Amino acid sequence: MRVLVTGSTGLIGTELCRALAVSHEVIEVSRHSDPPVNLLEPEDVETLVRTVKPHVIIHLAAFTDVSAAFDQTGDAEGECYQLNVSVTSRLAKVSSDVGAHFLHVSTDFVFAGRDDVLLNEQSECEPIEWYGETKLQAEQCVREYADSWTIARIAFPVAMDEGRRPDFLSHLRTRLKSGAEVKLFDDQTITPTAISDIVVGLEVLSRVKPKGEIYHLTGDESYSPYELGILVAECEGVERSLVQASSLLDYLKVDPRPRQRFLRLDNRKWKSLCEEECLSTPISAETLIKKYK
Ligand SMILES: NC(=O)c1ccc[n+]([C@@H]2O[C@H](COP(=O)([O-])OP(=O)(O)OC[C@H]3O[C@@H](n4cnc5c(N)ncnc54)[C@H](OP(=O)(O)O)[C@@H]3O)[C@@H](O)[C@H]2O)c1
Repeated sequence: MRVLVTGSTGLIGTELCRALAVSHEVIEVSRHSDPPVNLLEPEDVETLVRTVKPHVIIHLAAFTDVSAAFDQTGDAEGECYQLNVSVTSRLAKVSSDVGAHFLHVSTDFVFAGRDDVLLNEQSECEPIEWYGETKLQAEQCVREYADSWTIARIAFPVAMDEGRRPDFLSHLRTRLKSGAEVKLFDDQTITPTAISDIVVGLEVLSRVKPKGEIYHLTGDESYSPYELGILVAECEGVERSLVQASSLLDYLKVDPRPRQRFLRLDNRKWKSLCEEECLSTPISAETLIKKYK
């Protein structure tokens, strides 16, 4: 397969391109790829797509800085809206022109996260800040403009191994091993997902191409950040007292940016696909932490 991957230099894209290159032809798209492509000049990528005629486009590139996105709230001329919505819309259209399957990567931030419920692919989307709003609008563009599409929602990518950009868990481990105290919310729920599992999920979705389907490519358990801190402390053999509980609700009183409280994602649809394809099923953060002890 010829696979065009946008966002190839990002947290997920780097690992994904490495894995795909083993058995597919990969065309990388980012401002640091060779040749560099700025998606905010969409004619360039449209020409590239028409020239290389990929079988699949995996669209990872996005404006992912949630705080900076919040500062652009409501600004359709801003980089966040332009990259997340306008570029996605144009790419979805050009994918149809060349007959490519469009695998769009989205986020759990499309949910409000107000109630502690299990969120599946049919759950109501109701973003509470600009990044999530633009990512939901991007999903709507994909559904409207791509002839053949799949949406993969991912959440809280983590990896404990060295040699990559530090993520939440590896950062926690470094801090705790240095003897530093960490304060972590005990009234928030997140669903950490191993980056290696996300890569497996995107690879299988690009191969199987389930048309018009949404999948939650998310980890197997949900936790509070405090619980994760305790797990890392126990695994590394450091004092549990270095991990201190704090409250998201208190934090929200002093920070204007809204945060989702409960992002407990249901991954059963994806697990079924993994079983059908004889692939390993997604692991929990606890398993990941223990694996890299
Ligand atoms: N990380 C998370 O916590 C998380 C959680 C849920 C969902 N997601 C979704 O997963 C996807 C991948 O996230 P990620 O964390 O891997 O992203 P990331 O590390 O922030 O990387 C963003 C990618 O987009 C590219 N990009 C940004 N602006 C560009 C532009 N103007 N032209 C061309 N390329 C541009 C960047 O490449 P250059 O800078 O090299 O141009 C980079 O490769 C995104 O769609 C995100 O919404 C991420």
